[in-house]
Amino acid sequence: MNNEVITVLKNHRSIRSFEKKKIEKEILDEILKVGIRAANGGNLQGYSLVVLDDLDKLEALGIYNIPLVIIALADAYRTKRWFNAFGENKASVNTTHGFFINNWDALICLHNISIAAESLGIGTYYNGDITSMDIGKVINNPEYTFPSGMLCLGYPKNEGRFLDRLPLEAVVHYNSYRIPTDEEIKGWYNEKENLFQTRNTKEKLEELRTKGIFNIAQAYSKNKFKKEELEKTSKNIKRNIKESGYDV
Ligand SMILES: Cc1cc2nc3c(=O)[nH]c(=O)nc-3n(C[C@H](O)[C@H](O)[C@H](O)COP(=O)(O)O)c2cc1C
Repeated sequence: MNNEVITVLKNHRSIRSFEKKKIEKEILDEILKVGIRAANGGNLQGYSLVVLDDLDKLEALGIYNIPLVIIALADAYRTKRWFNAFGENKASVNTTHGFFINNWDALICLHNISIAAESLGIGTYYNGDITSMDIGKVINNPEYTFPSGMLCLGYPKNEGRFLDRLPLEAVVHYNSYRIPTDEEIKGWYNEKENLFQTRNTKEKLEELRTKGIFNIAQAYSKNKFKKEELEKTSKNIKRNIKESGYDV
């Protein structure tokens, strides 16, 4: 089964190295236009997109060598202003419900943009740090906005790497969640384990062993999921939620 959409989706890979060349205005406009065709809660588009191509601003956010970044905000501010001016000003927009719906809206829109960009030969990757970043001073986003997602875009310097995925049965459940055995889980992560053991150099594997890391589960759990590091990030996310005024 194949068509152009499926081909683009099947070939997805994140690109993190970009040419200096700017994305042409007509192309940017087109991918933004198709981005906002995405499904969204109540068709109120509870998001805003902040396109950043000002190098000083990008640098202020600690972003280098990326020609363009799109920050998707879960935005209840614009809807609130609309209600205040022309509707019921007591309407609750900054609720927990609003927060989650607007996050869906923002991320679905951003992913539409990502797919459209890829289909036109533009490389993209997400920066997951955005939810914890202190962006207010750089983009002046008002209350009732929260940074849900950030997409980095540009013309690719390389093809990127086509990464593995877990087998379908690891991630899909039919009708109810089936609790797997340890052996099943081991099997599902086998490909990752093999890649870890074969793609790392002997020296690297030796170095990791001296740190008590013998397999990829240990590599992830001991490095990427360090409590102290994640607690700091989580604290900053909570600060952003609090400052956004969303009642979560
Ligand atoms: C929520 C989310 C956060 C991500 N954060 C980062 C990030 O901070 N830095 C980065 O280089 N890639 C980031 N990525 C890209 C993932 O690392 C990438 O999608 C994953 O490793 C699979 O690789 P692929 O996209 O090339 O198939 C993120 C992706 C998502 C969906």
